[in-house]
Amino acid sequence: MQIFLDSTDAELIRHLAATGLVDGVTTNPTLVAKANRSMIDVIVEICEAVGGPVSAEVVAAEADAMIAEGRKLAALASNVVVKLPLTRDGLIACSALAAEGLSTNVTLCFSVGQALLAAKAGATYVSPFIGRLDDYGFDGSSLIGEIRTVYDNYAFETKILAASARSVAHVKAAALAGADCATLPVALFTELFNHPLTASGLKQFMVDWAASGQTI
Ligand code: E4P
Repeated sequence: MQIFLDSTDAELIRHLAATGLVDGVTTNPTLVAKANRSMIDVIVEICEAVGGPVSAEVVAAEADAMIAEGRKLAALASNVVVKLPLTRDGLIACSALAAEGLSTNVTLCFSVGQALLAAKAGATYVSPFIGRLDDYGFDGSSLIGEIRTVYDNYAFETKILAASARSVAHVKAAALAGADCATLPVALFTELFNHPLTASGLKQFMVDWAASGQTI
């Protein structure tokens, strides 16, 4: 499963990408607004920081305006993926941009039916939001498995990008359900490295090694 960072902090992204474990980046209008910077500048910086796909989201509500914004965002760098909401207009725009050969990410997906439509619209990625479904008492993780089954049934090539992941358990569930990628907040990505038994085991190894008086 590919790992994307859900962040607008290019410096942090560059730092974490140096691990060789970051395959791409996603952003959304809320993250860009919180950064209080121009979306264009943020996307250009991130695309310079990572070679993988970088999702940049349109903010228009109507298909023609989404298409115009999508073209503008895609022109910023060759690794931009145009992110579009899962609405009627978003899917019309997705079909049009896909026909132009642009990569697309259909976001705010909360059902199998929506994911089916995204695939039929030629989306490169579909983003089911696990955490937000859990917030409303649904099982977000099971949606990933259901979409996997439907996409495999019909050999759809749209990649499942598990989004709104909030915990290590979400990452595990997405991977077990066959998600192609998961996008993680920076803190969650960092948390994936850790396990208390790794820390205590390493501590004991070092104590025992020091006591042996050996060197390598
Ligand atoms: C990624 O594409 C999404 O914008 C992101 O995962 C949303 O996460 P949130 O539900 O925690 O805001």
